[in-house]
Amino acid sequence: MSFENAPPRGEELIAEINRLRRERNAVILAHYYQSPDIQDIADFIGDSLQLSQLAAETDADVIAFCGVKFMADTAKILSPEKTVVLPDMDAGCSLEDSCPPEKFKAFREAHPDHIALTYINCSTEVKALSDVIVTSSSAETILEQIPKDQKIIFGPDRHLGGYLSRKFNREMLLWPGVCIVHEAFSETELLKLKEQYPDAPIAAHPECPPTIVDHADYVGSTSGILKFAKDFDGDTLIVATEPHIMHQMEKALPEKTFIGAPGADGNCNCNICPYMALNTMEKLYVALRDLEPRIEIEEELRVKAKKSLDAMLELAKGTVGQGDLGRVISKADG
Ligand code: 13P
Ligand code: SF4
Repeated sequence: MSFENAPPRGEELIAEINRLRRERNAVILAHYYQSPDIQDIADFIGDSLQLSQLAAETDADVIAFCGVKFMADTAKILSPEKTVVLPDMDAGCSLEDSCPPEKFKAFREAHPDHIALTYINCSTEVKALSDVIVTSSSAETILEQIPKDQKIIFGPDRHLGGYLSRKFNREMLLWPGVCIVHEAFSETELLKLKEQYPDAPIAAHPECPPTIVDHADYVGSTSGILKFAKDFDGDTLIVATEPHIMHQMEKALPEKTFIGAPGADGNCNCNICPYMALNTMEKLYVALRDLEPRIEIEEELRVKAKKSLDAMLELAKGTVGQGDLGRVISKADG
């Protein structure tokens, strides 16, 4: 980048992002795992479901998506007429990487009597091969509307799938993917922390393995964990998810104490999502200035992927009866 093109710094950087946001008629969407400066400048912060809903509804011309690529792809699938920029195109996700579309297609073909209920943390190609997308905040509501005798493939997160399978006593064929961030929490260190703070409840994201989730007083999505942080009786909470979410807790609830669950080394640095961390304020500024890096999706693929996302948006309302499922799911070509 040449000197004239270098992003400004400090207050000027914030002022320039604000100016570009107005000039471009842009909305800045951010996930709770983004750094505090990005969370503070965003128009909206949310979990994967809320950000999808906002992307589908906004009347902005540009969506600057501060999150990972599958989230920005989802915004483009739902709002193709908008320009969607992602500050760093390398902001991927280990779950998406674990599920190559051609292997997922072969898995589906080997189980033609199963529907594919797929976590939103996957590629657009895998969404196009799926029947219904779920997020961690919508998965339980959606699963409850699927008839008990319907066989299910769940991918790519085996921990979220395993958690749902145990909680609802439903067998599911699980794709073997994991989130490298939630996988890094240590049960031994968590129990040591619990000994230090015996009255502090534990809130965990369902991407955590059973060794963590089984000790949790609350299991839920990022927005669910935030709600639990507001509602629980007590003054200290142990948080087993990506630590940047604690920025919102500390802002809203300064009287309470939030402690990140530890990794194997006894601190929680290994639980910072390395993909989310690629987005910075400087890259957000460049994305708004140049409208690059920009998400582009081939139209035929987008339309196929949108079906499973539309099914999610409708089923997440919780009002579709089991007998009406066929109307909502038009089966993907597995
Ligand atoms: P939420 O939908 O709970 O925000 O989770 C997204 C995610 O990627 C968690 O790792
Ligand atoms: Fe993917 Fe895990 Fe990062 Fe979420 S925290 S974006 S699941 S790698």
